[in-house]
Amino acid sequence: MQNTQVILAKRPVGVPDPSHFEVRDTAVPDLAAGQFLIRVSHWSVDPAMRGWANDVPNYSPPVALGDPMRSFAVGEVIASRHPGYAEGDVVEGLLGWQTHVVSDGANIGRKVTETDLPRSYALGIMGLNGTTAYFGLLESCAAKAGDTVVVSTAAGAVGSAVGQIAKIIGCRTVGIAGGPVKTRQCLEDFGYDAAIDYKAQDVAEAIAAACPDGVDCYFDNTCGPISDAVMTKLAQGARITICGTAAITEWDPLPMGPRVHRQLLVARARMQGFLIFDHKDRLAEAYAALAGWLREGRIAVREHVLDGPEAALDAIGMLYRGENTGKLIVKVG
Ligand SMILES: NC(=O)c1ccc[n+]([C@@H]2O[C@H](COP(=O)([O-])OP(=O)(O)OC[C@H]3O[C@@H](n4cnc5c(N)ncnc54)[C@H](OP(=O)(O)O)[C@@H]3O)[C@@H](O)[C@H]2O)c1
Repeated sequence: MQNTQVILAKRPVGVPDPSHFEVRDTAVPDLAAGQFLIRVSHWSVDPAMRGWANDVPNYSPPVALGDPMRSFAVGEVIASRHPGYAEGDVVEGLLGWQTHVVSDGANIGRKVTETDLPRSYALGIMGLNGTTAYFGLLESCAAKAGDTVVVSTAAGAVGSAVGQIAKIIGCRTVGIAGGPVKTRQCLEDFGYDAAIDYKAQDVAEAIAAACPDGVDCYFDNTCGPISDAVMTKLAQGARITICGTAAITEWDPLPMGPRVHRQLLVARARMQGFLIFDHKDRLAEAYAALAGWLREGRIAVREHVLDGPEAALDAIGMLYRGENTGKLIVKVG
């Protein structure tokens, strides 16, 4: 049996392109006792993968050149010599960009049991993106009914979930996204009360108009000029969750922005970095809430599905060029 992988061939500088990755076929090894074989159906594409391709450890070690690109993926167990996994189980985990994975369970995040929902959701709303939105908004940002919540990358996988959860708990929501298609998506698909096109509008002026009483919660997925503008419009006691830095494609040297201390001081605001991996003991709570809202039709999901391993070569670049409309996934099964 053949395993098709997409490996990291070269370290990217700036936005990755197809020259940084290669498709490679290898043989699937025989199973040893305690192992099982997964036929992968969907690969995730996440902005964090840009950082994982650097030769600099951050919260996880760099991917070695020649290794399959690290990624979340979902698939089905097709053979097992492991007591905890049976043929037919659907599993999600850090399986990498490969079509077949021999696992001992260490790289498995969870068994996917919501068989009534699309399997690919396990990578997005019922996976990294939904759980990040859930804990980032409710715990880190401590959003509550009546708050004005501003979200950057508002039409993306995390952002769209943040906006919709905020509406569910009774917040007023303002989404910031790039271009008219995404701002329309914010309003029509994801129920934002207002949407700002950061490519066409002055963000600080637009925030002032959309948030006359200031910003109570800023769910920051971008850093960069968008965040610099939002920081000038904080309400008293504002909470800022730094979830992602999509506007940064180079880590060395890290671009230095304006100093925000005075804005934080005057607003008595709190700014906190967030990483979903710190919440792994409580993920079941988020899965239960998100599945409930999905089944009640209270959360809409948009996916952008690419077809086949070759399409993965430029997929991370697509995210950093803003070309994805929804959760970016590569279908390989
Ligand atoms: N901390 C955590 O645990 C955690 C977990 C998951 C995700 N995240 C973060 O959450 C953020 C969103 O991730 P996602 O998976 O949902 O991706 P996504 O929003 O579906 O896609 C990334 C989006 O980033 C925006 N973008 C790209 N370059 C930009 C720039 N220079 N300035 C402003 N926006 C830019 C683009 O949207 P526009 O077209 O609207 O510009 C693009 O569509 C990322 O920063 C990611 O790293 C963090």
